[in-house]
Amino acid sequence: MTAPLIDPFQRRIDYLRVSVTDRCDFRCVYCMSEDMTFLPKKELLTLEELDRMCSAFVKMGVEKLRITGGEPLVRRNIMTFFRAMSRHLESGALKELTLTTNGSQLHRFAQDLYDCGVRRVNISLDTIDEDKFAKITRWGALKNVLRGIDAAQAAGLRVKINAVALKGINEPELIQITQWCAERDMDLTWIEVMPMGDLGNEDRLDQYWSLKDLRKSLAEHYTLNELEERTGGPARYVQLQETGQKIGFITPLTHNFCESCNRVRLTCTGQLYMCLGQEDDADLRSALRGSESDRPLEEAIRAAIRLKPKGHDFDYSRQAVDGQMSRHMSHTGG
Ligand code: GTP
Ligand code: 5AD
Ligand code: SF4
Repeated sequence: MTAPLIDPFQRRIDYLRVSVTDRCDFRCVYCMSEDMTFLPKKELLTLEELDRMCSAFVKMGVEKLRITGGEPLVRRNIMTFFRAMSRHLESGALKELTLTTNGSQLHRFAQDLYDCGVRRVNISLDTIDEDKFAKITRWGALKNVLRGIDAAQAAGLRVKINAVALKGINEPELIQITQWCAERDMDLTWIEVMPMGDLGNEDRLDQYWSLKDLRKSLAEHYTLNELEERTGGPARYVQLQETGQKIGFITPLTHNFCESCNRVRLTCTGQLYMCLGQEDDADLRSALRGSESDRPLEEAIRAAIRLKPKGHDFDYSRQAVDGQMSRHMSHTGG
């Protein structure tokens, strides 16, 4: 390994999120517009190029690799890429290879993922009500995701459900979703909705359900014990005494966690975003394609990390949306 990646705020960068496609078979209201234009396929890094990119990061100290999208499992031949990355698990350089998925294609890939060394998947699911699910995802069907969850668990993958907290939408389901996860032995993480994408006719403030409030409601039904445990992501966890399950909270709005940020995001075209909530990006594709040696790529990565900003500026506290990003969440995979 070469010298680790340290940013200007002395944060060590050891977590890379890689968006392997900007496409998705859903159109979640807080993530995409209904009529998205996607990148032409020729703009994408090939699977071999993605391998070279990720391997460079691993060599520079990245220990956790999360594959995202769009929906990562709609990228053609994506298992070839997972298989290639599993060699870094075998060598011990990588501690975790995982993905965040909408679950719709998981029934096809669960076993292969396990065989590639994946042990844990995060599945985005905001509601267990079929009609609400159809409304939130516009194009999705709940039964396909449930089939995916079954397949994942049957293959031995640990499942964590990621739910975006949506006022008046999944708010009434809080206890039901919690119980459902407990019965299925799944952890559950709630995420505050962030102002990403063209807000147009949507109002994030209307959708926003703060996790402070969610936590209060949860505490009316369960005893919450704080856990010190970290997964390397931004979530903070509690354990419910009654069910034993872990509940995570990702609170970009009510509690900024940027000071402990350890991650950067690579897009499917080879741009590196140093922060989810800032526009700054660095083009790594030219460095990759410009030379057969990895030296220029490594230099470009180090230069990018030197530009990592302190944090995001998301803020709803003035009853207005501040710090909004024009980029859609699907561009970087959250
Ligand atoms: P674990 O490994 O299970 O901890 O997962 P993770 O939280 O690192 O990854 P996941 O893809 O499940 O992330 C959940 C969501 O948290 C993302 O989709 C984002 O919406 C949000 N998130 C993750 N990292 C950041 C971050 O650096 N800043 C902000 N504002 N949100 C983030
Ligand atoms: N705010 C918060 N989370 C979001 N996600 C997508 N868009 C948003 C948003 N605007 C979440 C998805 C998924 C992850 C990849 O990002 O639900 O869990
Ligand atoms: Fe697709 Fe995930 Fe975005 Fe929904 S949140 S549209 S499932 S990428």
